Amino acid sequence: MARTSLALLGSLVLLMVTQFLMLPLLVTTVLQDASDRNSLTNALTHSLQSNAIGSTTATGVATSNTSRKRPIPDRGPPDGAFNGVPLYLQTATPDLHSNVHCVGRSCRFDFLCFNVSENDFVVFQSAREQALSTATIPRPFVHTSDTMLRWGPNHTQTVSIGGINQKWGANGLRRLEWFPKVVPLPDSGSPPFAYYALPEEMVWTPLHSLNAANPGHLVWDDFFPVYTLLHMFDLLDRHPLLLRYVLKDGLRGLWASCDFRPDKEEACQHLMTKFAPLMWGTESSWRFTASNNFTFVANGDVDGKDRVDLVCARTGVAGMGSLTDHGVTKSHGWMPEDYVLTQNHGRGGMLREFRHYLLSNMGLALPQSVLQERPHRVVFSVKSSSIRNRKMDFERQMGVVSAIEGVAVESYSFQDLSVREQVEIASRTSVFVTACGGAAVTASFLPAGGAVVLYYSETGGYKNNLNTKLPALLDWDVFNAMSYLRVHWMPRNTVDSEIDDQALMLLIEHEIYLMESNALSL
Ligand SMILES: *[C@@H]1O[C@H](CO)[C@@H](O)[C@H](O)[C@H]1NC(C)=O
Ligand SMILES: *[C@@H]1O[C@H](CO)[C@@H](O)[C@H](O)[C@H]1NC(C)=O
Ligand SMILES: *[C@@H]1O[C@H](CO)[C@@H](O)[C@H](O)[C@H]1NC(C)=O
Ligand SMILES: *[C@@H]1O[C@H](CO)[C@@H](O)[C@H](O)[C@H]1NC(C)=O
Repeated sequence: MARTSLALLGSLVLLMVTQFLMLPLLVTTVLQDASDRNSLTNALTHSLQSNAIGSTTATGVATSNTSRKRPIPDRGPPDGAFNGVPLYLQTATPDLHSNVHCVGRSCRFDFLCFNVSENDFVVFQSAREQALSTATIPRPFVHTSDTMLRWGPNHTQTVSIGGINQKWGANGLRRLEWFPKVVPLPDSGSPPFAYYALPEEMVWTPLHSLNAANPGHLVWDDFFPVYTLLHMFDLLDRHPLLLRYVLKDGLRGLWASCDFRPDKEEACQHLMTKFAPLMWGTESSWRFTASNNFTFVANGDVDGKDRVDLVCARTGVAGMGSLTDHGVTKSHGWMPEDYVLTQNHGRGGMLREFRHYLLSNMGLALPQSVLQERPHRVVFSVKSSSIRNRKMDFERQMGVVSAIEGVAVESYSFQDLSVREQVEIASRTSVFVTACGGAAVTASFLPAGGAVVLYYSETGGYKNNLNTKLPALLDWDVFNAMSYLRVHWMPRNTVDSEIDDQALMLLIEHEIYLMESNALSL
């Protein structure tokens, strides 16, 4: 009884800490890695380093180049570089212009440019499109999906440049309304202008990050919407050139976003760099930075004329307000309203493909057989935060689970590992046990058919900064949509009870049975 009350108290304190001190907490978590790696990690690193393309490691994870992305050919010495991506100086042909196609609340651009002097994007409107706009704008009931202007000559189409945090309120959300600057081109005889071209296999992908300092937000509120955009416009064979977009309205960055405080900016940059290999692979020298902190190297001075300040891509995408894991009105499971509607229904196949996309970006692919082999690895993610009350050490549960036949228990403090190591461990795991929260994102890399056990506080809900004493199944919406995993939620307040020991044991035994019998996978 005493233990239970203590656990209860611990959970409440934990959740209050999480709610109010989330930012400093995450900063601490994030800044910790790199140092202090244990010998197991070193052993793992060695096994990773010895991987060759197409081989199988001792741990059973095959590496391969299953990526659908077009290789970027060597086009000779570049004329410059943007965040490490080669640039080639071009002179515009007289008929060069941009085109746009908007679907839902997202747009695809043909010829999207970034002006490095303005830290903002620009598109060039053809004379033909101007004529179409002139004809359609006065017609209030005509709606077009491929014009840059609408609702009058001074209004562009708009998208939300980033995923929406409903806590930003109407005024905050309005700030995300975005479109590249529209520059009308003259009818004819336009003087050719010069620009730096990105490789044509790349897609300009500006995004206002919801909160890249947290791995859950980075993967599900930034990367997953980017993936959805590429999927939507059939661009998964291109390389997205991510740029964290800093709002240009001169106001302080939005609450809890990367530009809210300088330490948040640093924490975001740290995690963006750490997690960029999920999108670009571990060998990439490209940098994922903010739109006000990029590196631009220009070697191609044009005959002593003004410097060329446009970096242009054949293709661009933007608009991801509602494409996150939580949508436009919900939070991640703190509030009772979060459980009324689902955001990710029907998205299970896409979540599985998203996992596969990230794995193939990393050069990892998984043989199916791993879930049929004994021993089954049951991996505990321990101490998923450095705050004392948040450390779930799972020692009792590991004892319970290690008594199950055919099971090998492992535990890791994932924040100390590189993203490659995290993904590699998850990829060979049968059952992943963790506290819910952003760090649980590692569980999404389990092989298809794997199982996840998430511990949550059944009294940790919050609304308007008040504890509702209702359950807080954080990220339940996205986890419960992951049809490639079997996801289970366990109460944290009774974590030390014998009845929960029994439930955990039976649950994992049943999972092992399902994996070995192939009952649900063939
Ligand atoms: C991927 O593998 C194929 C076949 O082994 C090889 O021909 C190709 O060059 C590889 N592509 C890359 C980008 O490594
Ligand atoms: C880029 O922005 C600068 C500063 O506003 C402006 O002077 C310049 O004309 C822009 N470049 C192009 C090609 O539009
Ligand atoms: C559009 O903006 C221009 C320049 O600011 C202004 O002269 C014009 O009246 C505006 N048109 C409308 C319909 O608001
Ligand atoms: C800006 O970029 C530099 C590296 O070019 C990096 O060291 C620094 O942390 C970045 N600043 C912020 C605030 O992210």
